[in-house]
Amino acid sequence: MSSTTDVLGTSAAQARSRELEELIRKDPGQFRVLTGDRPTGRLHLGHYFGTLHNRVRLQDLGVETFVLVADYQVLTDRDVAENLTEYVEELVLDYLAIGIDPDRSTIFTHSAVPALNQLLLPFLSLVSVAELNRNPTVKDEIAHSRQSAVSGLMFTYPVHQAADILFCRANLVPVGQDQLPHLEITRTVARRFNDRYGHGTPVFPQPEALLSTAPLLLGTDGTKMSKSRGNAVSLSADADETARLIRGAKTDAERHISYDPATRPEVSSLVLLAALCEETDPVQVAAEIGDGGGAALKRRVTDSVNAYLAPIRARRAAYAEDRRLVRDVLRAGNERANAIAEATLRDVRAAMNADY
Ligand code: TRP
Repeated sequence: MSSTTDVLGTSAAQARSRELEELIRKDPGQFRVLTGDRPTGRLHLGHYFGTLHNRVRLQDLGVETFVLVADYQVLTDRDVAENLTEYVEELVLDYLAIGIDPDRSTIFTHSAVPALNQLLLPFLSLVSVAELNRNPTVKDEIAHSRQSAVSGLMFTYPVHQAADILFCRANLVPVGQDQLPHLEITRTVARRFNDRYGHGTPVFPQPEALLSTAPLLLGTDGTKMSKSRGNAVSLSADADETARLIRGAKTDAERHISYDPATRPEVSSLVLLAALCEETDPVQVAAEIGDGGGAALKRRVTDSVNAYLAPIRARRAAYAEDRRLVRDVLRAGNERANAIAEATLRDVRAAMNADY
């Protein structure tokens, strides 16, 4: 997706993200984070080191955090209807297992928040069809879609995403680069709404992206990590399944292990994975393995992944025993999200002179 990123100035977003990190450390109370995932099944290590870990960190720094299960948005590109309940529950279990704390963070499903969804209508009036048409991430998804026809939701979900973010007036959105075009639409919607209806008092903040600094992990076959490619270790996999996947990982012909992502992407991604789990430096991990070769590397990665995930997997198994837990977490989160969305919708209708 590199073509999307240059257009939208990834390096500017990265520079701004570093400034934001400073501001968060100084005063976490001035930020409200909203972020979320499509419920497409169990989360894997790519999700974990790419974004999930960062969310828990922000929560633990004291930033108020909203975590959205995007159960409407998932209808854009997959035929998940039959499995939706299961996928939503799996996602919430993963959240709880990695340390998202429902007492401090609001976990909710956007389909259960009518006032959030109602924001979509005035928001749609603020963007042109041409703007929706040129969203590079949507174009990419259409190109890779397995559905036979492109749905209206596919074109409009970035505006729905603006409602996800603006309903709670979040000002910080931790995302990957592919989400930058969507965040741009959110900012445009906020700005145009304020210009048209704000009468000098902005109704919405213009939220900013917080890009993760974590380098990209590849799947075990050396391509993008993805559940549907069978090349990802899911957080909830057991130790044996993890060992089997890593044993089958692609490496290269050179025995000596080094960390060189540009020329040895597969080997380097494995080294990086071990380093992330051990909270150490990949160059050092590679040096320690040295002439041990691919087999030693894979043993090291397997051990460090299994050790790292052990407490997460134990928590997940304990939570999964109690089927009511997920329901209760969502009920409480949805209630809170509804109260906030209703208040925002009242403000929106008042600003629009639709206060009857
Ligand atoms: N589009 C995001 C994804 O595919 C999920 C999402 C929906 C989201 N609404 C959001 C992310 C709001 C951040 C903020 O992963």
